[in-house]
Amino acid sequence: MSTENKVIIKVNDNGSLRVTGPVELVDAEGNPFEHKESFSLCRCGASNNKPFCDGTHKSIGFTSAPRANKS
Ligand code: FES
Repeated sequence: MSTENKVIIKVNDNGSLRVTGPVELVDAEGNPFEHKESFSLCRCGASNNKPFCDGTHKSIGFTSAPRANKS
């Protein structure tokens, strides 16, 4: 896979999952959500605009900052 077609999902500290790249986001029935090339998915469960992040993670004090193992 070339890097220009690569999808990157960044686990933001204390917040959302930032998705960048050519990806389609669909609901449980396979219907696509409208979104830009880069968008943020809620990881805290408190967004009022699920599956997207609306910034609520800040007001509820969501904390999570996982790190991948360095190889
Ligand atoms: S991660 Fe931002 S509202 Fe849930």
